[in-house]
Parts: sequence; C-alpha cells; structure tokens
Amino acid sequence: MPTPRDPGPPGVLKVAPSLLSADFGGLAEAVGEVANVADWLHVDVMDGHFVPNLTIGPPVVASLRRHSGLFFDCHLMMTDPGDYLEAFRDAGADGCTVHVEVGSTGELVAEMHRLGLRAGIAANPDTPFEALEPHLASVELVLCMTVFPGFGGQAFMAGVLPKVSEVRTAMDERGLHADLEVDGGIDPSTAPLVTRAGANVLVAGSAIFGADRPWEATETIRAAASQPG
Ligand code: DX5
Ligand code: ZN
Repeated sequence: MPTPRDPGPPGVLKVAPSLLSADFGGLAEAVGEVANVADWLHVDVMDGHFVPNLTIGPPVVASLRRHSGLFFDCHLMMTDPGDYLEAFRDAGADGCTVHVEVGSTGELVAEMHRLGLRAGIAANPDTPFEALEPHLASVELVLCMTVFPGFGGQAFMAGVLPKVSEVRTAMDERGLHADLEVDGGIDPSTAPLVTRAGANVLVAGSAIFGADRPWEATETIRAAASQPG
C-alpha cells in the first residue's frame, strides 16, 4: 500500500490548486509551477455521468505521482466512485472525496478508510447541510461546492456560505477536526468570504492556472484568505 503524504494539520488554511484549468498537454509542468506554494493538489475526476464532462482517471494520477510529492486531493465527481477507489489509491491518491448525492456514503467512507485513504464527502450547492450532517464525525474532509460541478471558471455562489458556516458550527460544537473545503469560483475576492464562513481549504482552478504566474496567484489567494473579516 503506498504511503499517503502528510495532509498537514486539519483546520489550518490550505490552498489547493485545481488542475482542471491547467494545460492538459503539460500537466507535469503545471504541477511544477505551484509545487513550492501549494498545500495540496486538487485533482478533478469527472465520469461523464454524474457531471457532463470527462477528465482525469487513475492512469493520469499515477503519471502525476511520478512528478510530485504533493498531497493529492482527488475530487471524484462520479456516479460509482466505489468501483474506482482502489485504483485511485494504487495510483497515488492520498485523499478521495465522494459526493453525498450518489448515496451509500457510509459504505464509501468505510471503504476509503479500509484502503488507507483520507475520506472526504462533498455536497452540491443545492444539497442541504442535513445530507452531510450524519457523516461529519466519520470523515477527514467536508467539501461544500460553491458552483455546480462539471466545469471550471464558473461564478462563485454566495448562497452556499450559510451552509459552510453551518458545517463549521456543527464541527466546532462536536469537537470535530475535519478540514472544511470549498471549490468553485474561488479567487482573491471570494477567498475572504469563505474563510470568514469557516472554510479552511480553498480550491482554485482558473484563478491559478488561468494566471500568467500560477505561483503568485496561489500566494495572492492565500494572502486574501488570511485577511481579517
Ligand atoms: C468544478 C471542479 C473545480 C474546478 C474549480 O467542477 O470541481 O475543482 O476546477 O474551478 P474554478 O476555480 O475555475 O471555479
Ligand atoms: Zn473539484
């Protein structure tokens, strides 16, 4: 079993560049551009069924693994993630996140743990807190999507912020220390909004890989996220 890379302390601010907006013809170079500033690398896996797009599978993760020692945070936008968890683990994924909308969440979390993966659960913008709530104590990461998944470069949905706060409050009240991640439309203007709501892992795709200097863009988001409310 591959040794998972250190995810860092839970609850601490982390920036996770999403490869979705990188040049897929030069993924290793893209990873290199953020290698020294990224906390995690966010890998968006789309199956053409749960979302209307196709992206990265285990062979690409395995290739990236040979070029990077970063923690790989694999976001599985898949109808049947359970069929692929072991393949992602073997390819070098460190954490996997499954969507609660596909069901069987408890079983999928148990399977991720059995495989030695850090387990995450994700909710689409219109999926309520109540769908996440029963699993909060069992997971290492909760992802609140701030766009509908499927594509990069969409506008941030501020309407998700109350749910982020709800998750943070519930975790604090119960003494839980999972990471709380947001994904979609994160840039220097939206970063302080999500950290104020309680998120601590910020995924950004187009704001980083659409920039001329992805490493600077990563640091700009980190600085904006740290601004006091
Ligand atoms: C959307 C993906 C995101 C995406 C975010 O389906 O899950 O990770 O890359 O892209 P931006 O930051 O451009 O909204
Ligand atoms: Zn994602």
